[in-house]
Amino acid sequence: MTRRSVLIAPSILSADFARLAEEVARVEAGGADLLHIDVMDGHFVPNLTVGPPIVEALRKVTKLPLDVHLMMTNPDSLIPEFAEAGADYLTVHVETCPHLHRTIQSIKERGVKAGVTLNPATSLSSVEEIIPDADLLLVMSVNPGFGGQHFIASVLEKVSRARQLIDRTGSRAALEVDGGVKVENAARIIQAGADILVSGSAIFSSSDYGATIKAMRQAVRKAMPGAGAAAARR
Ligand code: DX5
Ligand code: ZN
Repeated sequence: MTRRSVLIAPSILSADFARLAEEVARVEAGGADLLHIDVMDGHFVPNLTVGPPIVEALRKVTKLPLDVHLMMTNPDSLIPEFAEAGADYLTVHVETCPHLHRTIQSIKERGVKAGVTLNPATSLSSVEEIIPDADLLLVMSVNPGFGGQHFIASVLEKVSRARQLIDRTGSRAALEVDGGVKVENAARIIQAGADILVSGSAIFSSSDYGATIKAMRQAVRKAMPGAGAAAARR
């Protein structure tokens, strides 16, 4: 993963699923850094999306790292299939993993980067013990389940505390924020300490995906001219 002032991970949840390969090619050409794939099980979250076959199909059409967000009640049962399908990151919700350490180890044993995530109402303390083992910490800024929701502003403070937790513990985890991310709030989220912005509807509902990705980067650079250097030091 290259370090820039901000890494952008378009979420395919808001893409046209009938033309998925084409949509992915457009964000890849437009400068995306990762591809965010939202897996929903109709149980942990009230929606159903995609599984390992789609990850496998996408692996064949893009060079972007596949950032797979597992919004499912029992992720352990499908970790082997998602790893085999070519996921680069597998991120699990702390709310669904009673044996989080075992789950994280099982992801890493398969050569996949392990992420942990937490809902807006879940305390950051729930990841304190696991953060040294995590490759990614995803802070949800909407209640998961749907694209196009509003960013929950109070989460910004949690993002700052997450940054402090990562820095204090010397964790190598990248800090990602997901939900309601737009050009207008990108700078504030990066200023709070995020490394990666997930953005679905803001990118895929725009007429020029590359221009929207670029506008997000520019908004960050404008608000914090030193962001490139700061991010590179992390
Ligand atoms: C929400 C998903 C997000 C979603 C973000 O449950 O985890 O990744 O696709 O979409 P926007 O950017 O539209 O909020
Ligand atoms: Zn997501």
